[in-house]
Amino acid sequence: MRILITGNMGYVGPTLVRFLTAQFPDVELIGFDTGFFAHSLTGAQVLPETLLDRQVFGDTRDFQSELLHGVDAVVHLAAISNDPMGQEFEAVTTDVNCKASVRIARLAAEHGVRNFVFASSCSMYGAADGGPRKETDQTNPLTAYARSKIGTEDDLRDADLNGMVFTSLRFATACGISDRLRLDLVLNDFVACAMTSGQITVLSDGTPWRPLIDVEDMALAISWAVNRQAGNGGAWLAVNAGRSENNYQVTDLAEAVQRLVPDTRVSINKDAPPDKRSYKVDFSLFKSLAPEFLPRVDLDTSIKRLINGLDRMKFNDSDFRNSPYMRLNMLRHHMAEGRLGKDLRWSRSA
Ligand SMILES: NC(=O)c1ccc[n+]([C@@H]2O[C@H](COP(=O)([O-])OP(=O)(O)OC[C@H]3O[C@@H](n4cnc5c(N)ncnc54)[C@H](O)[C@@H]3O)[C@@H](O)[C@H]2O)c1
Repeated sequence: MRILITGNMGYVGPTLVRFLTAQFPDVELIGFDTGFFAHSLTGAQVLPETLLDRQVFGDTRDFQSELLHGVDAVVHLAAISNDPMGQEFEAVTTDVNCKASVRIARLAAEHGVRNFVFASSCSMYGAADGGPRKETDQTNPLTAYARSKIGTEDDLRDADLNGMVFTSLRFATACGISDRLRLDLVLNDFVACAMTSGQITVLSDGTPWRPLIDVEDMALAISWAVNRQAGNGGAWLAVNAGRSENNYQVTDLAEAVQRLVPDTRVSINKDAPPDKRSYKVDFSLFKSLAPEFLPRVDLDTSIKRLINGLDRMKFNDSDFRNSPYMRLNMLRHHMAEGRLGKDLRWSRSA
């Protein structure tokens, strides 16, 4: 089986590559990435891309279809991948996350690719009072990032995809250790705060709901989707990827970290206005379609792996929210140095 992974040099990619090579020893893997964060390894002993058969550098907006020859499955991770970046680069977010994604999916279908896996996000449920959201419920996107994920799903929903099986995995919020760690994710942020300053400050009143999924379990879900058959869920499928038990309130997360990092204080801003981004998600469809691929990494294990990973890195930067471990800071840094334009294309003159 030959799999093309776009956006493989980010947070999820290295874990996915390791998982797929272990799961499918004969798999041939091609990576495609523009490399915004390629140099930012966190404790890895070896470049994660050495596990690939081929690494291609390029921008998905200029994607050339030759790369699809002989490809059985595409895993499309490449994206401007969180709310703050989407807010700062709104037009680029639409172009990269939606327009380029739809174009690549259509090209893949034309080239006879069997399965296309799109990394979508539960953040499209946005402000969701009441019960857990199902795939058939109304979405309520609050950000350009969330809208871009819905746009891609919608544009492909009724498209003629030449028999290609399309799976949009609406992932819960990611957490956990990776060879390219991010600290702009709620659980990762709390662990880093606890370890560097002994203090977790919850900026909201702590009540918002956030479903979580460990990066390793994202890889597990993807390993299901690359082989999914149309008879199991339909040729076009959008499914919440996670586990119902992993719907947490932000306070629960802070307290779980406090239990595992000794001497951590937690302060909650009880007077903060309610954070609108709050959603509980129903993962029962995923459970029924992929019972053997449900998340396995529990919250405490994710936290312990983060603690070990940060320890290995000898991480002690209590000012990490101003560091390149926040993706937006990394992009701003590239731009300040003249390497990257406002359109998030590399500048050759820098
Ligand atoms: N991390 C999460 O919480 C989470 C949750 C749900 C869904 N997702 C989705 O999963 C996917 C992977 O997430 P991640 O956390 O690894 O993101 P990331 O930002 O760490 O990595 C994204 C990768 O895409 C690449 N990329 C961005 N624009 C590109 C372009 N125009 N051309 C080529 N490459 C480009 C970047 O260089 C980077 O290596 C994304 O689509 C994201 O939206 C992530």
